[in-house]
Amino acid sequence: MGPMIKPFILSMCYHVMLASAWSVNNFLMTGPKAFLTYAGSVQVGAQSGIQECKHQFGWDRWNCPESALQLSTHNGLRSATRETSFVHAISAAGVMYTLTKNCSMGNFENCGCDDSKIGQMGGRGWIWGGCSDNIMFGENMSKQFVDALENGHDSRAAVNLHNNEAGRLAIKATMRRACKCHGVSGSCSLQTCWMQLPDFRSVGNYLKVKHGQAKKLEMDKRRMRAGNSADHRGALTDAFSCIPRTELIYLEDSPNYCERNRTLGLQGTEGRECVQGGGDGDRNATQWERRSCRRLCHDCGLRVVEKRVEIVSSCNCKFHWCCTVKCERCAQTVTKYYCARRERVRTPHNKTRRRHRGRGGRKQFKPKPVGSS
Ligand SMILES: *[C@@H]1O[C@H](CO)[C@@H](O)[C@H](O)[C@H]1NC(C)=O
Ligand SMILES: *[C@@H]1O[C@H](CO)[C@@H](O)[C@H](O)[C@H]1NC(C)=O
Ligand SMILES: *[C@@H]1O[C@H](CO)[C@@H](O)[C@H](O)[C@H]1NC(C)=O
Ligand SMILES: *[C@@H]1O[C@H](CO)[C@@H](O)[C@H](O)[C@H]1NC(C)=O
Ligand SMILES: *[C@@H]1O[C@H](CO)[C@@H](O)[C@H](O)[C@H]1NC(C)=O
Repeated sequence: MGPMIKPFILSMCYHVMLASAWSVNNFLMTGPKAFLTYAGSVQVGAQSGIQECKHQFGWDRWNCPESALQLSTHNGLRSATRETSFVHAISAAGVMYTLTKNCSMGNFENCGCDDSKIGQMGGRGWIWGGCSDNIMFGENMSKQFVDALENGHDSRAAVNLHNNEAGRLAIKATMRRACKCHGVSGSCSLQTCWMQLPDFRSVGNYLKVKHGQAKKLEMDKRRMRAGNSADHRGALTDAFSCIPRTELIYLEDSPNYCERNRTLGLQGTEGRECVQGGGDGDRNATQWERRSCRRLCHDCGLRVVEKRVEIVSSCNCKFHWCCTVKCERCAQTVTKYYCARRERVRTPHNKTRRRHRGRGGRKQFKPKPVGSS
């Protein structure tokens, strides 16, 4: 994980520094010390977002590649697809999540649990107590650091900011109430409750669903083209007005992600591993995983190849008096599946063609594989 996310993190910090230089009324980042206090945790948060992205898309054609993480920088490649909407949301959520956790753990001097409701009646039989996670702080920090990357005023920046916000709302939507019983000998006649962050995995799962339901932003093209900036803004506002803040949005349709495209920084699915049958023995594959060979290979015009891989591990461990444990080394062969290019020689179409050509003379060339790899 480490080196891959560096460009993203570095560019993020670079932008944050630029941003903090010009935001005068920035109450949190009043100096380099304040900046450094949070920057490290912001990086950790962004990393956890990207890690979750890789987990969520592990068996998808697009698998959250490093190239996707540099889209927030202002290079010419910035696109706003369904997938980049997820990257924005999960990064903003990761930062909010980590900073909120930091706050509850007492990592920062100036913030702690959200005790605004402590002692108040929450509902029938319970009062607010304990340590509610202070999501307001995390939300603020995520806005300060992540939203600062969007310094443009175009529709792309607006879309990215919207998706950052959707990521933060995902955390609010997945928070849960946790309670503790009190009362005579644990009778639970009274409970104290607090709001608690979910596992970050739940946030990832929630946003993966949102990714599937993401909406394309349709703008009034005539008004956009008019060149009049008031009209332009108006068209943008109209387009946004009918989309709930919780939904992910995008501007451009995604490529099919089957083929390699260096310009877009896409690897394609050739060589990717997929899951066939019930999984690799240690665990049961999910439905989504079990269809991965079709999705990654067959639907992309590739075939599935089998590879037998030997895994050596410790086994038959015995305890010897006294005090050693001796193990044997056992080799286990597992079958793994990968997408590979079809052998074009064997396709009926080309076979026929070559046979015809072959009649003319002995000169026959093996067809070279097309494309570059
Ligand atoms: C915030 O939390 C992250 C993850 O738990 C941790 O790596 C980081 O060191 C924390 N920040 C501080 C200032 O303690
Ligand atoms: C969040 O930011 C707002 C303004 O930006 C500020 O008024 C509020 O006190 C901040 N809350 C926390 C918990 O930092
Ligand atoms: C890569 O994507 C760009 C932009 O969509 C497209 O113009 C180009 O033809 C693609 N290249 C290949 C080799 O498919
Ligand atoms: C996989 O599923 C089968 C039945 O569906 C179950 O018997 C088995 O214990 C599961 N294996 C693992 C590793 O979860
Ligand atoms: C036949 O081979 C050529 C290259 O020699 C290739 O471009 C073409 O796609 C192949 N046709 C089929 C049906 O695979």
